Amino acid sequence: MKRRNFLKNASLTGLGLAVAPAIASCETDDKKVKKSTGKTVVPVVVATWRFHNATKAAWEVLEKGGTSIDAIEAGCRVEEADLKNTTVGNGGAPDRDGNVTLDACIMSKDGGYGAVVCMENIAHPISVARKVMEETPHVLLAGKGAEQFAVEQGFKRENLLTEASKKAWEKWKVKSEYKPIINIENHDTIGMLAIDKNGDISGGCTTSGMAYKMAGRVGDSAIIGSGLFIDNAIGGATATGMGEEVLKTVGSYLIVELMRQGRTPQEACEEGVKRIVASNPNYQNFQVGYVALNKQGEYGCYCIHGGFGISKFQEGKQTYIDSKAYTKKG
Ligand code: GLY
Repeated sequence: MKRRNFLKNASLTGLGLAVAPAIASCETDDKKVKKSTGKTVVPVVVATWRFHNATKAAWEVLEKGGTSIDAIEAGCRVEEADLKNTTVGNGGAPDRDGNVTLDACIMSKDGGYGAVVCMENIAHPISVARKVMEETPHVLLAGKGAEQFAVEQGFKRENLLTEASKKAWEKWKVKSEYKPIINIENHDTIGMLAIDKNGDISGGCTTSGMAYKMAGRVGDSAIIGSGLFIDNAIGGATATGMGEEVLKTVGSYLIVELMRQGRTPQEACEEGVKRIVASNPNYQNFQVGYVALNKQGEYGCYCIHGGFGISKFQEGKQTYIDSKAYTKKG
């Protein structure tokens, strides 16, 4: 299959994305994301999709006075351990050869960055990424090297391909093609941003990437500036969806830089999506969603197609925010 068709066909179902009929939703349970109030409301944690258990775990760390980096690791680990989630960690959908390969990165308040890509047999890539950041002179380890480092650090090797994922892959192999259909699972990569009681921000992003991807394919999630970017002076941003498009526009870095220039998190996310759409007439066939958080604890989110949303825990309350979308009905 030609690369373009592979990506096009893989774009919707492969990422487990919910692509609702093209309608722009402007409603959020916070009514509307407002311009800056000047009020700082921290601690806070936001994450892509309905990852309520993950944001809850992160909030519990923050509420006790824990650091944002500890909150991020604790939150992301919840999704990595969830065998029912076929887009993150253990139980993730495999590549086209049947191998589960994971990408993850973490960024700290000090501008620290650690990442692993295409790592197999280790269930918690977010924790390995943190070890890369804290225990090595490097920032990114790939494949066998990442796995070997993880084992040296005490992580155990395990089979990440569940029976359910194996069956789905075997079914896919019969035709080895995709049909973009509306996916009801409504989840994908987890990107998470957290600010602790000290006002320091950290972020993490972890994924098994596109289901049935080509062997060796790496998306945006573990790549600094694309799937995640944090600047403790400004805020952070993270992405979900079609990694190739986020990578080409260095999306999360762009959003943080736009916030630096005075845009609200909402405005910055909208511009990030519009950059992708403007240069890509094929945008109807894939989804990208962003979430951003500034240092005041104000969030924004935006996506190409409706169906994306974010989980938030702030002031002791968990909420789900249905993201506004670029596409309009008809
Ligand atoms: N955003 C996840 C990926 O493209 O791998």
